[in-house]
Amino acid sequence: MSGCVERPAAGRRLYGPDEIEAAVARLAREVASAYSGQPLVLLGVLKGALYFTVDLARALAGIADGPSEIFVDYICVVSYAGSESTGQVRLLLDEATVLEGRHVLIVEDIADNGLTLAYLQALLLERRPASLRTCVLFDKPSRRRVRVLLDYIGLTVPNTFAVGYGLDYQERYRNLPYLAELEIQESQRELT
Ligand code: IMP
Ligand code: MG
Repeated sequence: MSGCVERPAAGRRLYGPDEIEAAVARLAREVASAYSGQPLVLLGVLKGALYFTVDLARALAGIADGPSEIFVDYICVVSYAGSESTGQVRLLLDEATVLEGRHVLIVEDIADNGLTLAYLQALLLERRPASLRTCVLFDKPSRRRVRVLLDYIGLTVPNTFAVGYGLDYQERYRNLPYLAELEIQESQRELT
């Protein structure tokens, strides 16, 4: 075994754990005040938003005057093959929660070309939620191909492929506590 699976992505660090934590805390405060006293469904987009959704839900729990209740569910979509978007979004797992008449917040790791969120927003609006908003931790505005409304944005990322804090390259690096630019090493090419 080459050992590169365990080795963290070696690229330039974009945001460290403290900056990510501060961004999540700020987003939680914004969301808490917007939904104060109302029940809220957090709909995390797997797999990238797995960590963000959990951390956002926990941060919301610590805020007084936030939503009256928080429900957490997940939906799973894929659009990437390696570090390239296929341009097509596929729904792999649908949420079990009834959304009709409820306030729903899509929780996504990153907005890149925007296709995934545009697809999800259209899909979920058909389910007649009381309201539908979108919260992304990372935004790559320079890559946008379709217009998509983002209600809450954490941190801006340059036009680069990033890994860590839920974001993967071929399922690797999701567990890194920071966000780094991907640097494909010679020793990894055999695995990709
Ligand atoms: P979009 O449809 O291009 O906006 O891409 C959305 C999805 O692509 C995100 O939910 C991520 O899962 C994935 N993605 C986009 N950019 C990156 C990146 O820099 N690193 C890892 N995954 C990414
Ligand atoms: Mg994602």
